[in-house]
Amino acid sequence: PEPVSVTLTVNGQTHTLSVEPSVTLLDLLRERLHLTGSKKGCDQGQCGACTVLVDGRRVNSCLQLAVMKDGAEITTIEGLGTPDRLHPMQAAFIAHDAFQCGYCTPGQICSAVGMLDEGHAHGQEEIRELMSGNLCRCGAYTNIVEAIEDARR
Ligand code: FES
Repeated sequence: PEPVSVTLTVNGQTHTLSVEPSVTLLDLLRERLHLTGSKKGCDQGQCGACTVLVDGRRVNSCLQLAVMKDGAEITTIEGLGTPDRLHPMQAAFIAHDAFQCGYCTPGQICSAVGMLDEGHAHGQEEIRELMSGNLCRCGAYTNIVEAIEDARR
């Protein structure tokens, strides 16, 4: 199939790119835009390491074809905060030691931000349930939930 022209606004910057129809949003972000914060864990929608916000909603970017997101607004971990001006969720993850190896962290943080914007997450149980699509192989779940509770305040 022929490449298709796709326009995406990523972290406030608009890009128009020629994209093969089979390219995932995750690969486009990482390989074409060099935004490597979003991680490729399973590439099958099972781990959440690739979570980004598309029009404000959290999605597994490995499961989305980039061409289907034409016109969308995407926020990746790089767009949430900077080292000088952390997003409150990033600051909370640091304050609560909510990671060990850090590989899942960008996806955890994007997912947590999206979840709070959805207006759910009233207690620890609900946070665990709503974050269940984001796996942490180090098992930092207790601290992740505490960080999210803190950021919600
Ligand atoms: Fe997308 Fe695992 S890399 S869910």
